[in-house]
Amino acid sequence: MAERERGDRASSLKYRPQFADDVLLEKIMSQFKWDASYSVRVKQFDADHQQLVAILNELYDGMTAGHGQQVLNDVLNRLVLYAQRHFAAEEVAMRKIQYPQLQEHVDEHRKFTAKVGVVMQELKTGKIGISLELFDFLSGWLKHHILVVDKQYGPALNAKGIA
Ligand SMILES: [Fe+2]
Ligand SMILES: [Fe+2]
Repeated sequence: MAERERGDRASSLKYRPQFADDVLLEKIMSQFKWDASYSVRVKQFDADHQQLVAILNELYDGMTAGHGQQVLNDVLNRLVLYAQRHFAAEEVAMRKIQYPQLQEHVDEHRKFTAKVGVVMQELKTGKIGISLELFDFLSGWLKHHILVVDKQYGPALNAKGIA
């Protein structure tokens, strides 16, 4: 059996978070697993979310495998581009049915995009590196957004024939 499989997961990490802390490490040391409980009852958006989770996990795998910042940056860029396309598609659908919570939902997308924009700028200038903390933020935001915010549009879209 390979040495790294025997050791606990955290100690086999080549890539260390910038603010290593056992509790945080414990909490974030796992991939994001999409399952049916994340379904928003709209096929295309479930597929988008699965793709976002896949790219996010690629970032996680890249970090734990010790890949360089350039490689990680490319994955993060893909994640952000995909997220922007997905947000736009959700907003078009919600606008189409005059979804009552459209504005709040759009605000959530904008806040995330703005925050990620700041992070990307800091990465570009070398102020920060891609860390497990960043993964934890992205993963936590996505989970919450799908489960709490996106899930709300399911019944409204379904009622207008979008499923
Ligand atoms: Fe979404
Ligand atoms: Fe959304």
